[in-house]
Amino acid sequence: MADMDLFEALRTTRTVRRLKPDPVPDDLLRKVLTAATWAPSGGNRQPWRFLVVRDAERRRQLRELYLPLWRTFSGAYTARLSGLPPEARAREERMVRSADHLAEHLHEVPVIVVVCVHLPELAITDGALDRPSVVGGASIYPAVQNLILACRAVGLGAALTTLLCLKEPEVNALLEIPAGWATCAHLALGFPERGGHGPVRRKPVERVAFLDRWGQPLFPAP
Ligand SMILES: Cc1cc2nc3c(=O)[nH]c(=O)nc-3n(C[C@H](O)[C@H](O)[C@H](O)COP(=O)(O)O)c2cc1C
Repeated sequence: MADMDLFEALRTTRTVRRLKPDPVPDDLLRKVLTAATWAPSGGNRQPWRFLVVRDAERRRQLRELYLPLWRTFSGAYTARLSGLPPEARAREERMVRSADHLAEHLHEVPVIVVVCVHLPELAITDGALDRPSVVGGASIYPAVQNLILACRAVGLGAALTTLLCLKEPEVNALLEIPAGWATCAHLALGFPERGGHGPVRRKPVERVAFLDRWGQPLFPAP
């Protein structure tokens, strides 16, 4: 397969929640995980480990932990949709249905990658501020995004979830993750059941890029 243009991959990498149960070959897994390891991290400490869960019983247990979390989250999320205009509401409801599908079928997904981070090696430079820290995540989520984009390039779909982090003690026990390591993402990987990818839907750059001071548009509205 010819390498995919980077901008095309960025423009079309969507969350793929409907995945075939077919196994993911080792060479593909090696390729996408190697791409994940090319990510930057504070001080180049590379505080990550990628725990690939293929064992059917462990996947089943991860699904048992995830499903109730997802149901609680989606109940609250769906309740907030009633105020939306019909078209936006229909779109959100489609997303929730596909996320329901992922949650119900998580154990059938061939690979779940649990991304772990070594907490002492995180460069948390904003920890002293009176707000939630966000900088620590910058040493791990670039690797997660590399992984997702690499999946796109080789024809795999990926769905990122973070809800399972709430069940970290149970996940750590299940997967024998040692003390000092945290879970920061769970990715379902597999071949897309349907089309999978396509153009992403995002706010236009004109709305989110400023020049010199907050709120001053960098680019004129189209
Ligand atoms: C931090 C984070 C957590 C997410 N958690 C979930 C999740 O628990 N379940 C799920 O189905 N999708 C999850 N997603 C996927 C988002 O719903 C998705 O990226 C977003 O709706 C945009 O859709 P797209 O990726 O298809 O363009 C998560 C994404 C991020 C970045």
